[in-house]
Amino acid sequence: MSESQSYRINIAIDGPAGAGKSTVARKVARALQYIYVDTGAMYRAVTLKVLESGLSTEDDISVGSLANALDIVLLPGAESQLVHVNGVDVTTQLRSLEINRNVSYVARLGSVRTRMAELQRRMALEKGVVMDGRDIGTHVLPDAELKVFLTATPKERAQRRFLELDPEAGITLDQLEKEITERDRLDQEREIAPLLQAPDARLIDSTGRTVDEVAEEIVQWGLAATRTILAEEK
Ligand code: CDP
Repeated sequence: MSESQSYRINIAIDGPAGAGKSTVARKVARALQYIYVDTGAMYRAVTLKVLESGLSTEDDISVGSLANALDIVLLPGAESQLVHVNGVDVTTQLRSLEINRNVSYVARLGSVRTRMAELQRRMALEKGVVMDGRDIGTHVLPDAELKVFLTATPKERAQRRFLELDPEAGITLDQLEKEITERDRLDQEREIAPLLQAPDARLIDSTGRTVDEVAEEIVQWGLAATRTILAEEK
């Protein structure tokens, strides 16, 4: 292993829904032998528990205490990352339309964001993490050595999500595009840690590009960032 492969940095990948962040981030992590952290899955896990408990997504204090009491563990799985909450695997429950429709309301609560950011920072302490989300480069890991803002046109993002959905879900492509655009609006307009490109993030528009191409570009940037740091330390 070369020096630039054994020295580890943190990589933040932010962007709107359906831009390909999780697929790309997972590939980048695999190529660099880093740990992938899907922060959206953590907000989805809290949302699942909020919906199960019947709490209002407006109730910052109660939802915050619920979030603080949850033991959320991310584990590497064969296909995707597994999410365990209080020892139970909830992975397959996290991408339902109901969670899609509520997650941005839960994610705008200050109490929830404080708790999630704390857990996420802890995961990145040892470096060697590829973390994807909305506020990673701006808020959670402002010192990440490489920041990427990944986007694509709303139409393409909706099409990608449409193909992933169960045909039984009963939602049209047009409806899905509207829902994605609405979630982006909520994420961009919230007061705390909104979805935003960090000034020092590199922008990638993934419209019409393959996952492999985009992942490879980020891997190369990661290796270059590592080489620069090593050269500066010498
Ligand atoms: O996979 P997709 O892009 O649809 O969404 P996700 O990454 O699973 O994130 C779901 C939701 O969680 C987002 O729409 C945000 O409301 C929230 N989120 C956030 O606020 N901050 C993060 N770092 C990650 C997700």
